[in-house]
Amino acid sequence: MEVTVAKTAGFCFGVKRAIEMVEKELSDNDKKTPIYTYGPIIHNEIVTHELEERGVNIMAEDEEPSSYPVGTVIIRSHGVSRKVEESIRAAGHNVIDATCPFVKKIHKIVEEFDEKDYRIIITGDKDHPEVKGIMGWIKSGKCDCILNYEDFEKLALNKDEKVCLVSQTTFNHQKFQDLVENIIKNGYNVSAKNTICLATEERQKEARELGSRVDAMIVIGGRSSSNSRKLFEICAAVCSDTYFIQSMNDLNVSSLSSVNHVGITAGASTPTNIIEEVQKNVRNEL
Ligand code: F3S
Repeated sequence: MEVTVAKTAGFCFGVKRAIEMVEKELSDNDKKTPIYTYGPIIHNEIVTHELEERGVNIMAEDEEPSSYPVGTVIIRSHGVSRKVEESIRAAGHNVIDATCPFVKKIHKIVEEFDEKDYRIIITGDKDHPEVKGIMGWIKSGKCDCILNYEDFEKLALNKDEKVCLVSQTTFNHQKFQDLVENIIKNGYNVSAKNTICLATEERQKEARELGSRVDAMIVIGGRSSSNSRKLFEICAAVCSDTYFIQSMNDLNVSSLSSVNHVGITAGASTPTNIIEEVQKNVRNEL
């Protein structure tokens, strides 16, 4: 009986860094001022609930920061718009910026190109907090969000217009390359910046590969985590015996009793201790 845990399972660099910043604030904060994260720090109810019990509350994104008692606000790895950051500071809160450096880099690019009068185009999901945050660093508001070349054509841009193209960090690498090729081929004046972070792609690639060579696959992730659900879909497509669990409590280990090889992967918001607990229990039971 074999159990294999994917090397890429669990926190990515940016999420790990954000959680460490929360932990540091918890240990440094002896003044007993409130600590907030702006929205849930990660999409994992177990983690956010545990943090809440230790005194880290969630500041709701649809409420004014000024409606909360003054404290320290930790901005999560997705980042926020300039306006949101300013409104938190204006309300008197201390800000700890845990925006992933890869996302921060995009804020800098769009700000710089906006100042040079470029139209900014972002490839990605316009409703995702990361994309909303990026849009919020474009002062002129000359900005569009697209998914493919068809969307780009609908913008009916003048071919001389200066365009800066960036991407949501989790956008598909191949789709971005195809889009850039198409835009250049059609004679547009585009400065394309590949701002995709490969952490997600590598995790998905490894999940697919692992899922295709095991008898059963366990995907650990928060119910509201879209990257974990995506991992489940990828694994379920190559391994019919795939389970999506939030923690060990959701897994009936006896259902794995007749398999020879179990694979385990986890979304970017799954802490190491939960992965280890599942791994240990599966090993012990089988
Ligand atoms: Fe950062 Fe990439 Fe994670 S952009 S938050 S390291 S998925």
